[in-house]
Amino acid sequence: MNERLANIKQAILDGIEKHAESRAAAFELRKQFLDSKTGEIGQLMKEMRNIAPEERANFGKSVNELKEWAQKCFSELDEKLKEKELQMRYESERIDVTMPAEKVQTGNLHPITQMRNQIIDVFAGMGFEVFENKEIENDYYNFTALNTPKDHPARDMQDTFYLSPEFLLATQTSAAQIHTMESKKPPIKILSPGKVFRSDDDATHSPMFHQMEGLVVDKKITLCDLKGMLDMFVQKIYGDGTTTRLRPSYFPFTEPSVEVDVSCFECGGKGCKLCKGTGWIEILGAGIVNKKVLENCGIDSEEYSGLAFGIGLERATMLKYGINNIKLLFESDLRVLKQINDN
Ligand code: DAH
Repeated sequence: MNERLANIKQAILDGIEKHAESRAAAFELRKQFLDSKTGEIGQLMKEMRNIAPEERANFGKSVNELKEWAQKCFSELDEKLKEKELQMRYESERIDVTMPAEKVQTGNLHPITQMRNQIIDVFAGMGFEVFENKEIENDYYNFTALNTPKDHPARDMQDTFYLSPEFLLATQTSAAQIHTMESKKPPIKILSPGKVFRSDDDATHSPMFHQMEGLVVDKKITLCDLKGMLDMFVQKIYGDGTTTRLRPSYFPFTEPSVEVDVSCFECGGKGCKLCKGTGWIEILGAGIVNKKVLENCGIDSEEYSGLAFGIGLERATMLKYGINNIKLLFESDLRVLKQINDN
């Protein structure tokens, strides 16, 4: 009998040495000896009744000692393996904090949005408020109230998408002038960005584009105020030292009307490809608000005068970043968009 106990002991030691490499394997091995029903040590207990009564006490004691010893062996083994497995896990999950970090890809605002924000910044600094434009207008706000009644030849300046005889896709942000003057009393200083639509499509025109309207109405507003504000605007957007010049033009809602040129920020005015050798680049339309427009909105044109301007955001952006095809601004090609980040 003692030999049997010794063999079991040896089998446990051998088993631990040879097979117990993981906690799962050790558990199986433990079961083989210590399982209450099928384990080899348990079996010995069952054999108790075959032992001569005088030896039974001794036998029981030896089996119990073996059992306790085996339990201790297996729990020590389990502790050891637990520690080992933990170390392996630490090893496999080790993070080298000295490794360079993965580059985080960040997006940036679309160039048109950047331009929009930059312009808003400049004029907000001069006290302008911002009102978003409508995309669908009715004929009155887009044309008639802006001194462009039906059959007025200036309607041909813009190829309009009509939705019905009354409603249309806004062709210009100038309708904001009317909405503002109808709802606010002077002094007025507003900026109105928006999407506009015209049936026009080539390298510099797109059927949908963005404009930013500016309107100031107060006592004694003159072209000098306009020039001063626009000079400030071009310096902030195109760099110190740029200036503007005003050329006579025609818009039905302004009198006088001007076309505003910016001094060429590429060559400083000497003449280059960008300014086609002239030293100047046409940038926006502006003027003194036509008295008829003020009166259409119930503003006394003897007491008040106003200035207005309309900036094409695509044009302003294309000039600033040397983009020669407007489609590049609408194709969402990341190779292009990633190059333009002034934020
Ligand atoms: N609405 C004009 C256009 O789309 C631009 C414009 C010109 C706006 C003169 C103005 C202005 O406010 O005074 O062509």
